[in-house]
Amino acid sequence: MNIRRPAPRILAISGSLRSDSVNTALLRAAAATADDTWVELWCGLGAIPPFNEDGEDDTPAAVADMRAAIAGADALLVSTPEYNGSIPGQLKNALDWASRPYGDSVLTGKPVGITSASPGDYGGAWAAQHLGKVLEIAGGTVLEPSFSLPLADQAFEPGTDVLRDPAHTAALATLVSALRTAARPALAVVG
Ligand SMILES: Cc1cc2nc3c(=O)[nH]c(=O)nc-3n(C[C@H](O)[C@H](O)[C@H](O)COP(=O)(O)O)c2cc1C
Repeated sequence: MNIRRPAPRILAISGSLRSDSVNTALLRAAAATADDTWVELWCGLGAIPPFNEDGEDDTPAAVADMRAAIAGADALLVSTPEYNGSIPGQLKNALDWASRPYGDSVLTGKPVGITSASPGDYGGAWAAQHLGKVLEIAGGTVLEPSFSLPLADQAFEPGTDVLRDPAHTAALATLVSALRTAARPALAVVG
């Protein structure tokens, strides 16, 4: 009987709905650093309806799909834009849904790495900080440090997800590696 630990499954969540999002590009760049790790980019953010506590027991299909995707992942990598100094409303809304029902958050104990990206000088560092707080309160285990990409509109080789500065790629690789260590998927019996 052989026992091995399968490659961790990381769900990458972009807080942007924009087709040319620098945050989504940053997640693709992060995935490219992860050799033996399965990284899936979640694309359901736009379908999540507004959270209303009155109707929270009647789970919308899009929310059920999101919770299943999070539950099936060993870890999350979330990248947030910065809107007016914080995280975009649609990302917060999705995380509010994920945090319910109260006491049974699908985020509980889930290792989470955080990135942010912005054309500004600070790369959305405030949003990254706020995202960490939201995810901790919702039950996640947030890894430190996060990574914020400044001047993000100029940070990629044109038309690619390749970061121009090798130091940025190295920082992403370090974060993904820490996430992989924290994820520790269940042992599998093979053979
Ligand atoms: C409503 C709104 C508010 C914004 N506020 C900030 C901000 O506070 N700080 C910042 O660095 N960029 C701000 N931006 C610019 C975004 O960082 C920029 O649009 C970025 O490309 C969004 O990320 P994305 O490309 O992943 O969608 C704001 C953009 C919008 C639309």
